[in-house]
Amino acid sequence: MIPARYGATRFPGKLMQDLGGKPVIVRTYEATKDTKLFDEVYVVTDSELIYKEIELSGGKAIMSIKEHDCGTDRIAEAVVDMDVDIVVNVQGDEPFTSKSGLKQVLSVFDGPDADKIDLASLMTEIYDWKEISDPNSVKVIVDKDNFALYFSRSPIPYPRDKNAAVQYYKHKGIYAFRKKALLDFYKLPMRPMEAAEKIECIRYLEYGKNIKMAISNTQSIEIDTPEDLIRANKVLKDDKNITINNMYRNFPMVPKVVFGRGSFDQLPSILAPQRKDKAPFIYLVDDVFKDDEVIIDRMNLRFNDKLIFVSAEEEPKTEQVDTIVKSIKGEFTYSPSGIIGVGGGSVLDLSKAVSIMLTNKGSSSDYQGWDLVSTKSVYHVGIPTISGTGAEVSRTTVLTGPDKKLGINSDFTTFDQVVLDPDLTASVPKEQWFYTGMDCFIHCVESLNGTFLNEFSKSYGEKAYDLCKEIFLSDNLSEVESRGKLMMASWHGGMSIAYSQVGVAHAMSYGLSYVLGIKHGIGNCIVFDHIEEYYPEGVGLFKKMKDYHNIELPQGICNNLTEYQMDTMIDIALSLVPLWENALGDDWKSIMTRDKLRELYLKM
Ligand SMILES: [Fe+2]
Repeated sequence: MIPARYGATRFPGKLMQDLGGKPVIVRTYEATKDTKLFDEVYVVTDSELIYKEIELSGGKAIMSIKEHDCGTDRIAEAVVDMDVDIVVNVQGDEPFTSKSGLKQVLSVFDGPDADKIDLASLMTEIYDWKEISDPNSVKVIVDKDNFALYFSRSPIPYPRDKNAAVQYYKHKGIYAFRKKALLDFYKLPMRPMEAAEKIECIRYLEYGKNIKMAISNTQSIEIDTPEDLIRANKVLKDDKNITINNMYRNFPMVPKVVFGRGSFDQLPSILAPQRKDKAPFIYLVDDVFKDDEVIIDRMNLRFNDKLIFVSAEEEPKTEQVDTIVKSIKGEFTYSPSGIIGVGGGSVLDLSKAVSIMLTNKGSSSDYQGWDLVSTKSVYHVGIPTISGTGAEVSRTTVLTGPDKKLGINSDFTTFDQVVLDPDLTASVPKEQWFYTGMDCFIHCVESLNGTFLNEFSKSYGEKAYDLCKEIFLSDNLSEVESRGKLMMASWHGGMSIAYSQVGVAHAMSYGLSYVLGIKHGIGNCIVFDHIEEYYPEGVGLFKKMKDYHNIELPQGICNNLTEYQMDTMIDIALSLVPLWENALGDDWKSIMTRDKLRELYLKM
């Protein structure tokens, strides 16, 4: 329910102001509906004008019957006769309402203290003293379980000592009520504290209700003042397709990493402090090590730790993730102390996905996409045994699901610990070494030539690019030196795309992989060999490297595709919008047409 009052004291008529060609309230309605989290979305208003505007744009609106002091009363009146379970109050002046915030506030009703909750709301971390002391921003303080203690326009708590280490939170005006709670609150008379601060939710505290706060740090812009509207219009104009969160991506990095020949033996002492009583460590290990007793012995399994060998023959599938999670949950009463992935990109991605799905409900396919994971994953460690994919450092996991090939891209995906031991890559077969190394080289080329490039990505990309040239085009490196350098190239290549994106080769290679099951590394090479049109210098160097190492790539792999297969391949490639935007800019759709893609695939 989106309560919408026409007259706002601070900025009258703000909901009908123009925001990129549509009124603010229509933008909010559409953004809320687009989250697909709700069975129904309504605007509840006292204004004929707003009512008509929503109806006109194809939305649903309800006229409130009575005069109301606050939005909550307005929506309470509207839901009295509706058959609903949970009612969410979305502020009409939040046109950039994000799915993750709404998902966050809904998720508390699945938490362990759900019974105690009368209503739930959102808060966001703030750091800037100007914002902390601004009376237009409502601050909230919470107890240890994130139940609200008080809301105020004053800075709370007041820091007597300027450098007191305290986290400030700003309240976001999104509430989720059980229907009963909402009706209970309806018509509760206003009390003095609410009247003084003019903050609606103080009323619930004054009547002794429990408000559970969820944290959501996604950026948003509330339209409170004419300046906000100017800012919001600018965001829309600058970045039609990129959400405001992507402009300033705040991404996690691996917090702990150990590097060096033999560093694998540090694993037991790294894991010891993470071990929780009776909760095992689960090792997901590439099955090429199945008979390698030395490696297994060095892992030093203890108590009820479990070793699961996984085949990297095919790229990880959501189904495979779900099966492993189910078997772990079935076998152990306690949630594991951690997941240790030992292998190439596929095994590392699988390990990241399993650690997420041990704490999040449903199927891993529900989380394929950007920022859909709400609960922190279990502790997980990545130990690459082949270098190039960047999986050890990335915020995503590449997964093939029932209807798409897409990663689980989230803040909880990144490893908590990585062990980089170049000696573990010593037994990689030459072809695989080349294909996976080229994955790294292609990450650099695509990032460095992309429109998303910034100095952050560039500094990592350039280093990795130079390392790749040294590794693949010179013979003055010993094998030991080359392994260490490739391990670091992979890391830097991965970091380079963290603040950027990959491009044409990756988008097309995803299509090959989905339809023909071609693995990522070789798929990239097959594509890259034919796209000099987009990356002339990079592809030129690639061809030199290929010749230098006598690598023969398969030819004509798309010659015998059915029309249906070709269409699917094109669909999968075109669905990777951010990759194309990075590679070819805003106008990519007119450059990379279906016909163009078909022509390119047929060359391969
Ligand atoms: Fe890649």
